[in-house]
Amino acid sequence: MRGALDAIDLFLEAWPDYAATGALDELRAQEFGRLDAEGHTYLDYTGAGLYGASQVRRHSDLLLSDVFGNPHSDNPTSKRSTDLVERARRHVLSFFNASPDDYCVIFTGNASHALKLIGESYPFGPGTRFVLTFDNHNSVNGIREFARARGAETEYIPVDPPDLRVDAPTVEHALGVTRSGGPGLFAFPAQSNFSGVQHDLGWIAAAQSRGWDVLLDAAAFVPTNRLDLGRWTPDFVVLSFYKLFGYPTGVGALVARWPALAKLRRPWFAGGTITVASVGADRHHLARGAQAFEDGTLDFASLPAVDIGLEFVESAGLDVIHRRVTCLAGWLITSLLALRHTTGRPLVTLYGPADVRARGGTVTVNFRDASGGFIDHQRIEAAAGERRISIRSGCFCNPGAGELAMGISPEEMTSCFARSSDRITYDDFRRCIDGKGTGAVRISFGLASNFADAWTFVEFARQFLA
Ligand SMILES: Cc1ncc(COP(=O)(O)O)c(C=O)c1O
Repeated sequence: MRGALDAIDLFLEAWPDYAATGALDELRAQEFGRLDAEGHTYLDYTGAGLYGASQVRRHSDLLLSDVFGNPHSDNPTSKRSTDLVERARRHVLSFFNASPDDYCVIFTGNASHALKLIGESYPFGPGTRFVLTFDNHNSVNGIREFARARGAETEYIPVDPPDLRVDAPTVEHALGVTRSGGPGLFAFPAQSNFSGVQHDLGWIAAAQSRGWDVLLDAAAFVPTNRLDLGRWTPDFVVLSFYKLFGYPTGVGALVARWPALAKLRRPWFAGGTITVASVGADRHHLARGAQAFEDGTLDFASLPAVDIGLEFVESAGLDVIHRRVTCLAGWLITSLLALRHTTGRPLVTLYGPADVRARGGTVTVNFRDASGGFIDHQRIEAAAGERRISIRSGCFCNPGAGELAMGISPEEMTSCFARSSDRITYDDFRRCIDGKGTGAVRISFGLASNFADAWTFVEFARQFLA
């Protein structure tokens, strides 16, 4: 990595904060040696975080040293599982500085599952509204189907290109009490998984003071930012743990404020969620708190690994991770924007803020040829793959941000839907929108990222210069 070594002095001059994050280089050597041993440049942390070797070792040692039974019981092996599940639950609260008096942790399969719990249980009805920003993940967008089915109105707040931020008056207008329909549920991502934009967490209290319940999608934010639920108090927070620390997969959480949780009405009951159910009497009573939302048996073998993973991130230090990722994203953006074809045209178009204020380590671009035409994002991902660079291309399950970033109008989308059937493939749909990008290339940094990763991507990008 000679080139990276030559470039690092200039990088450190421009981003002096990076020097204080050296502990993460040691951590990378100890815990993520497989990245360099296998020649990987991993740049998809918004897709999934990576686990440190010691997390897996500690978890397997734990599983091999004890006996764990189904937690829905009172026997010794069952109690052992319950102890560790409850320990993980307490740790999630302390990780987010949430008081158990204010918040409850419900373990789910992932963030999408947590969102579905909210969607299917929220008291939507005629006269209530579901308001959300355009740059939500599809698993938040999908809640509109529950809202619509129960007669609630859905309203999107647009994000403005090129930064893809929302200005405060637009939010205030959308949440205004004078508009038709009362309050309801307001949802936004703490960090957009498309653009890296971090929205103003001040919206939470502003919306609540007008009677809204606030759903904060924290999935893309929490891996590299501190979320302090002592300071910000959204009603619902959703996340997936693999995005934070890679392992275990298949576990997420809905962290809910008690009064908001009390408003949710579950559409069914299942094993584990009731205090009592009767077939003869055709009645049931739901359990209280988290238990009412955890259908069937929890992933009790994996949950101790959540405790271990949280400890791993705490010992690395979220503030250090945040600082490193900010420096790398800042350098990457500046370096990519500086690349020009011999025609003078820029190599990339950036979607999202060009500075590092209120943005995370997710950088989304499209590549352009010397005459300004799009270079297909799938081609870029494939070429990166040949160099063992892992990036993501497409719309990242965030169609709203993509449509606004690429200037695809609702009319164009509607006409393509009208001409297509349920069975249309993504590629066929793309062909319907002529001459515009329908996806982009996403590079994202995380806990184990270093300067060589960012540098490798910029060197890779140069091959498309003409
Ligand atoms: C912002 C955001 N919300 C929700 C999700 C959904 O997470 P999962 O697929 O783990 O349910 C993702 C995943 O990429 C995301 O980035």
